[in-house]
Amino acid sequence: MSKPDQYNVEVTSNDMKDSNVKYFTTYTYGCQMNHHDSERLAGQLKSIGYEYTESLEEASFILINTCCVRESAEKKIYGKIGELKNLKVSNPNLIIAIAGCMAQKDKEKIFKKAPHIDLIIGTHNVHQLVEVIKEFEESKDHVLAVWDQAERLAPDVPTIRRGKISAWVPIMYGCNNFCTYCIVPYVRGRERSRPLPDIIEEIHQLGLDGFKEITLLGQNVNSYGNDTNEYGDFADLLKAVDQVETIERVRYMTSHPRDINDKVIDTILNSKKICDHFHLPVQSGSDTILKMMNRGYTTDYYRELVRKIRKAIPHASLTTDIIVGFPGETDELFQETLEFLKEIRFDASYTFLYSKRSGTPAAAMADQVPLAVKKERLQKLMDVQNDISLEINQQFTDTAVTVIVEGPSQRDENRLMGRTTTNKIVLWDKQGTEEVGQLANIKITTAQTWILKGDLID
Ligand code: 5AD
Ligand code: SF4
Repeated sequence: MSKPDQYNVEVTSNDMKDSNVKYFTTYTYGCQMNHHDSERLAGQLKSIGYEYTESLEEASFILINTCCVRESAEKKIYGKIGELKNLKVSNPNLIIAIAGCMAQKDKEKIFKKAPHIDLIIGTHNVHQLVEVIKEFEESKDHVLAVWDQAERLAPDVPTIRRGKISAWVPIMYGCNNFCTYCIVPYVRGRERSRPLPDIIEEIHQLGLDGFKEITLLGQNVNSYGNDTNEYGDFADLLKAVDQVETIERVRYMTSHPRDINDKVIDTILNSKKICDHFHLPVQSGSDTILKMMNRGYTTDYYRELVRKIRKAIPHASLTTDIIVGFPGETDELFQETLEFLKEIRFDASYTFLYSKRSGTPAAAMADQVPLAVKKERLQKLMDVQNDISLEINQQFTDTAVTVIVEGPSQRDENRLMGRTTTNKIVLWDKQGTEEVGQLANIKITTAQTWILKGDLID
């Protein structure tokens, strides 16, 4: 994303701005874990007197929290870093920090490419921002804070949240899976589970602060507890979270299809608050490719998993991630993915062109697929998926759905937005009686591929 983040803080209007206050702004790219890290970085800046601003020109601290899961993200970020050089000329006191996965991967190489950057903060060093700034103020020189390995537990730091209704709560960090295309295990380290009492306490407090919905975050949430015998497994965690009185809805991401088990499905079925939405990245519908990706399951295993989920919770929604153009993917193997998509009928698929990440096993594999072929396949995949998504959404026309009111839609102040438990985005014309954070019943009048539109039912 290239738009500055909105934090849950008042942004002072221009005529009220205090010239003695220092302002910061942030740009965050990538996954929700990264967005949450930005909330922890922003919280630390606020603790030392910085206030948030949307304006780049006004900021005396600019934070870019980066992603390197695909090359396209990296290119965009290096472009953004380049653009900031001129600001440094007009404001020599400006501090620019690069955090996140690209900082962890490229380390001091970023200083070489862009000497106008002051601070580089790795994924394991997010909690150190205040110390890093102090060091910079003393030395007035580049500061590199990138540990190769994480501490067992990331220390708590002040956090300011991006929203007021929905909050992210990390339950574990890192990934042990080493899918052959993926850089995440190299930049986020091995799996570390957060203590269950800390998670429950944070969620309870978020509820008291007015949050209605929380999303449990982890690269592979179903491995929760595997690295320690202290807190039980993911299903035990879900059961405990379901008991927290102060919140209304619980989501989680991301699940690995191999690790989601009957106990988790059963827990969700018997829960009061855990949403009936399953995001299960399949990545490919070809057994040959799944094996080369080191995903640890077959298409038959996945089919059986979907059958179980749909039998237990028939109205559950199902979404997925798919990579096209993995090395060795022939037209025939790609066709298997297309057929799989038609067979499973996901509510939505997030589709990606395979991106070669140096250091990962897939980058060295033979038969890399040309970009033009990848793009053509992506388009075919999206065409098939869009038709399916629309058909599924059309089944909601003339029915009533319940959403939590999240606020105005991005494009239109007079239109409100909310989500169903199945994670469908619903828009309707504001009637004035709705309150942010409250439930609303909406009668669906129009179904589109990615959204539902309707009218508030009194
Ligand atoms: N190229 C393309 N997509 C990737 N993903 C992860 N690594 C790569 C890569 N090298 C996708 C996967 C994952 C999602 C978050 O990003 O589909 O589920
Ligand atoms: Fe990457 Fe696979 Fe871990 Fe997901 S499970 S973060 S795709 S290595």
